[in-house]
Amino acid sequence: MQRPIIYTQNLSKTFNAGKPNEVKPVQNIDLQLFTNTYTVLKGASGSGKTTLLTLLSCLAKPSAGVYECMGEPVSRWSEKFLTRFRQQHIGLVFQHFQLISGLSAYQNIAVPLIPLPDSRSEIDHKVRQIAEQVGITHRLDFQVDKLSGGEQQRVAIARALVNNPPLLFADEPTAHLDSAMSERILEIFAALKKQGKTILMTTHDPLVEQHPAIDKILVMKDGQLV
Ligand SMILES: Nc1ncnc2c1ncn2[C@@H]1O[C@H](COP(=O)(O)OP(=O)(O)OP(=O)(O)O)[C@@H](O)[C@H]1O
Ligand SMILES: [Mg+2]
Repeated sequence: MQRPIIYTQNLSKTFNAGKPNEVKPVQNIDLQLFTNTYTVLKGASGSGKTTLLTLLSCLAKPSAGVYECMGEPVSRWSEKFLTRFRQQHIGLVFQHFQLISGLSAYQNIAVPLIPLPDSRSEIDHKVRQIAEQVGITHRLDFQVDKLSGGEQQRVAIARALVNNPPLLFADEPTAHLDSAMSERILEIFAALKKQGKTILMTTHDPLVEQHPAIDKILVMKDGQLV
């Protein structure tokens, strides 16, 4: 049988452990995602979707449990190894974009390439190629602060993809968009799946989960998959 690209067992995260303000946003998650699948994660506000995504994208370490990503036992690794792994293999689109204000769209998209040994012309080629794919070429020289919500969203998606990572996590990528722009973002994701990527996306939007490219819908409630 094919090995999952994402495998978790009892994956858990606790904040402020042992204190009166202790929170357990992710509890005992057993998850298997296979290569080249497109999965949606839904659930009420506060159910733990973003926290789970930060664990799966190696931005944070779990408090307990096992996480294997692309066959690697990442839950046992130090922050330093996790960061390098994330830079090479994982694209993440944040819920609130987290673009660098004051920099242009071009500069924001290029950020993940800076630690790599790419030449200036290679960087330029990669930035322009992904900008074309997400339809933001006409705004590359604009400061990101001057872009519309949908344009900022496309810059955030381009930045997550500029390294060509096999895994893409997107946290509510259509939350700030009208239905036409949401549709466009979903078409971009469907095209990425066709290219072989594995996608996990959170959403509140009932229209999103009806998209034909989506393979599976997971539901989170109070930190657990139901
Ligand atoms: N760093 C933190 N410290 C303490 N509590 C946190 C932290 N991060 C998240 N939480 C808590 O964990 C719970 C789950 O938050 P999370 O952001 O994962 O939910 P969500 O499902 O993404 O919600 P939304 O749909 O509103 O984005 C919330 O109660 C939140 O307050
Ligand atoms: Mg969230």
